Amino acid sequence: MNRIIILAITLLGLNPIYAQQEKILAPTPPMGFISWNLFEGNISEDIVKSLADAMVENGLKDAGYEYIILDDLWHGERDENGNIQPDPKKFPNGIKVVADYVHSKGLKFGIYTDIAEKTCAGMEGSLGFETQDAQTYAAWGVDYIKCDYCYAPKDVWTAVERYTKFIEAVRATDRDIVFALCEWGQRSPWLWGERVGAQLWRTTWDLRDTWEHGRYGQGYNGIMEALDRQVGLEQYAGPGHWNDPDMLVIGLKGTGSSSSARGAAGCTSVEYEAQMGLWSLLAAPLLMTCDIRDMDADTKRILTNKEVIAINQDVLGKQASRVLKNEQKEIFVKPLADGSWAVGLLNRNGNKTTEITLDLSKQLKINGEKVRVRDLWLHKDLGEFDGTVALDVAPHQCRMLRIEVL
Ligand code: GLA
Repeated sequence: MNRIIILAITLLGLNPIYAQQEKILAPTPPMGFISWNLFEGNISEDIVKSLADAMVENGLKDAGYEYIILDDLWHGERDENGNIQPDPKKFPNGIKVVADYVHSKGLKFGIYTDIAEKTCAGMEGSLGFETQDAQTYAAWGVDYIKCDYCYAPKDVWTAVERYTKFIEAVRATDRDIVFALCEWGQRSPWLWGERVGAQLWRTTWDLRDTWEHGRYGQGYNGIMEALDRQVGLEQYAGPGHWNDPDMLVIGLKGTGSSSSARGAAGCTSVEYEAQMGLWSLLAAPLLMTCDIRDMDADTKRILTNKEVIAINQDVLGKQASRVLKNEQKEIFVKPLADGSWAVGLLNRNGNKTTEITLDLSKQLKINGEKVRVRDLWLHKDLGEFDGTVALDVAPHQCRMLRIEVL
């Protein structure tokens, strides 16, 4: 079909996969663990199993984390019939055994591919094998596919055409598989991602384990640069369709592989807390990347804060808007299903504590009524307020509040 017609059909929402979608996959942002950053090619059946064990034993499953996603470099060769095989040394018993183990723990299993001939790390991609790979993944029990865009042409038409074809094949398997496309926000995927049938799309380059890189470029973004690229994309997020500013770097402390490239030495505990809060406000997927088998108490505290996770998983599915940007003071507000608000007060200044004032009338349209304010990191009610809520915010802190109208 003519590419312009495909694009027009997609943008108008007339794409058959989109139009016929009955069930909402990923009604709240996916939560889990993704292997790339820590393990790269050093993955194996034993490692995946140990991650699944850790997810349960460390209370991560109980906090809501669900997916174990195998990123790049799990692949072997295709067999004589074109069926994709895992690397026989890493996965001697195949992938189904691994997926079964993950399922036996009450978790879900994800896998990685690319929409070109090769993946980003040079493994077998899915181009030309869309139906076969979709069927293989479904037979293995895959619940989540991350599909990259390395080695694919730059234009948006090809992206729409290729992802449409692959997702159509995935939907034809009748297995509920969340589809996460990953073209790094280069072709405005928020405009067409939902309509090609994807549940999430990366909006940025790969995140580094650093607060700020000072510039935005391929492979260079820190937490703040990724955050800035979410502002204005609020309207594209909602149940079943999420903006994805990439992984959680919480707890890595410079131990990641790609995330530590070019001097990204890690963040402070306050900065990791800020990422957790901000990604929750943004209704972003919460995909951990630190070694969850060996977490310190502080990392566990940050990753399992149920009050903050509840903001991320709120069923209304709204992405927070930035309602104040005044020098280095910022306020993010996210409406919640029960009529209350989640608010983030962010101090981007790395040296000085600053007072940030939320104006209830201007920023939340709450006029005259009193509100109850709860601090979600302190797990403490701060009392009743009217008019304004002014709080001290430490350097690089994002105070997380839940505000209920009385
Ligand atoms: C790209 C993606 C990363 C990761 C690697 C794997 O860079 O953006 O998230 O999947 O490929 O090779």
